[in-house]
Amino acid sequence: MCGIVGYLGPRDGVPVVMDGLQKLEYRGYDSAGIATFVDGELAICRSVGKLRELQKKLLQADLAGSPAIGHTRWATHGRPTEPNAHPHVYHGVVVVHNGIVENYISLRGELEAAGHHFSSETDTEIISHLIAREIEGGRDFPAAVRAALSRVRGAFALGILYEQEPQTMIAARKGSPLVAAYGEQQGEYYLASDIPALLAYSREVIFLDDDEMAVCRPDGMVVMNIADGRECRKEIHRVTWDPIMAEKGGYKHFMLKEIFEQPQAVSNTLLGRVAENRRQVELHEVGFSHDDWRRVNRVVILACGTSWHAGLVGKFWLESLARIPTEVDIASEFRYRDPLIDEQTLLIAISQSGETADTLAGLQEGKGKGAKILSICNVMGSSIARQSDGVLYTHAGPEIGVASTKAFTTQLVCLLLLALDMAAARQTMTEEEIASQVAGLLHLPLLLEKVLELAPRLEKIARRYHRASDYLYLARGLNYPIALEGALKLKEISYIHAEGYPAGEMKHGPIALIDEHLPVVVLVPHDRHYEKVLNNLQEVVARDGRVIAFTAAGDRKVAEFSAEVVGIEEAGELLNPLVYTVPLQLLAYYTAVFKGTDVDQPRNLAKSVTVE
Ligand code: G6P
Repeated sequence: MCGIVGYLGPRDGVPVVMDGLQKLEYRGYDSAGIATFVDGELAICRSVGKLRELQKKLLQADLAGSPAIGHTRWATHGRPTEPNAHPHVYHGVVVVHNGIVENYISLRGELEAAGHHFSSETDTEIISHLIAREIEGGRDFPAAVRAALSRVRGAFALGILYEQEPQTMIAARKGSPLVAAYGEQQGEYYLASDIPALLAYSREVIFLDDDEMAVCRPDGMVVMNIADGRECRKEIHRVTWDPIMAEKGGYKHFMLKEIFEQPQAVSNTLLGRVAENRRQVELHEVGFSHDDWRRVNRVVILACGTSWHAGLVGKFWLESLARIPTEVDIASEFRYRDPLIDEQTLLIAISQSGETADTLAGLQEGKGKGAKILSICNVMGSSIARQSDGVLYTHAGPEIGVASTKAFTTQLVCLLLLALDMAAARQTMTEEEIASQVAGLLHLPLLLEKVLELAPRLEKIARRYHRASDYLYLARGLNYPIALEGALKLKEISYIHAEGYPAGEMKHGPIALIDEHLPVVVLVPHDRHYEKVLNNLQEVVARDGRVIAFTAAGDRKVAEFSAEVVGIEEAGELLNPLVYTVPLQLLAYYTAVFKGTDVDQPRNLAKSVTVE
């Protein structure tokens, strides 16, 4: 978490960095800061709170200059106070940092014993001290950075400036994401934690790898290995995302825009992955052959948060369609339990950002044990994507709202495509069965458009129930993970306590919570579980719970027992999780709006969790 942006070039870097930070604010938003050189003099401005607080301060400070580096923070070490906000400076060395210095206590002790005084509680400040010490010992700026970083254990993405060399900007990476980019003008360079920060300025990016640093000067950018200083040849990637995609485009919140983008996002996910005859799936791009799919004897899915919920649905599809035993693990648990993995295991890492530290570490654990790795990511060139044997990109476009929406539905589409491709390879489905699911997928964007028309109805329901202190979400089978996801959305953005539960399991605990104050969301699609869920719904009603039911449009039975009914135009048993997801996103969204919370940047959360 934390976002960093840097600019070196002929124009004023302050607005460029501030604009970039705004695009990265989803990575953390408890304090922010910026540094530049004004007539060769270092100038720093920092502020507690959201970026707008820093903006207010900047208006008075009248800062303009280049290079400039900035930071938006999600606190790990040290509370969100102004002294703890980045950039940190020591003897003219200015540092912004995303990551954690794991050995900071011993390094700080060592530096304090040598007479260094610290002005913050952060681990980051250590880095500026270490570099300054190396410079004072006689090394040039890049060599000092290299020497200092060789002492640092942990993860970092860094932007570094030095007052005595105001024409140089250094970026360094180990374990936390960082891209460097070329500007339109000669001698113009950018660095940022993530691509959306740069979309308005550059399309030519270099993804720094671990243990690499980039030294940017007006006459060029050199990427080198931190350990030995050897130059690295880097590929320049052209980014295809449009800057408009990272704007709100008339919507009140990014989250709402992203919910409404789902029909288009799903179309983009399908693009080029369905054969011309519209009966088969074509996934040649992932680099696994049908022979590879036949060799797989087990799938392990790793993910966190919303992506984990997608994995739970994926398990259902992979087992029922491709008949492959599939486990789904929360990445932070998987990595510490010495999992049983071998060469015939396919490990699927699901991550919107492609940077989630736990998922990345789990992937590395699996790789070390010989598993083949396929990732499902949204962000091109992200760490998880690059460390995988194959990638299935979701192509959802930039997702800015912290609560994930279109990334989730497009992850589901990728998982179903994968299950169908594997089923074809393993001959566990007939051609006709596959063709019918492909037809369903192609029809999905239209159904998602229809379900979005329910927004006013969900707004009304949200208005009625937004004062509830708890919510329960129930469903069975394929839709049970959708109940989990609905509950997660609600708690993330409205701060209402919500639990998702398999409807059949309700009687083993949550039933004790039911009274006339508890809204209970029940998903009752027309599938093989219909009667059983209807029974569970009646058990809720018998205890005075207030049922908000989601069922097939036109269903009368469910309406008879429920306080509210939302009729959904269904997509068929296998695809229903997608159409049932959207109204739950809308319910959470409008509830948060009525509660007046910060929808796009809910408290304490960050979009990209790059720490353990
Ligand atoms: C954070 C976000 C969630 C997201 C999770 C996993 O907690 O707030 O919305 O689902 O990380 O992120 P990933 O990028 O790996 O999908």
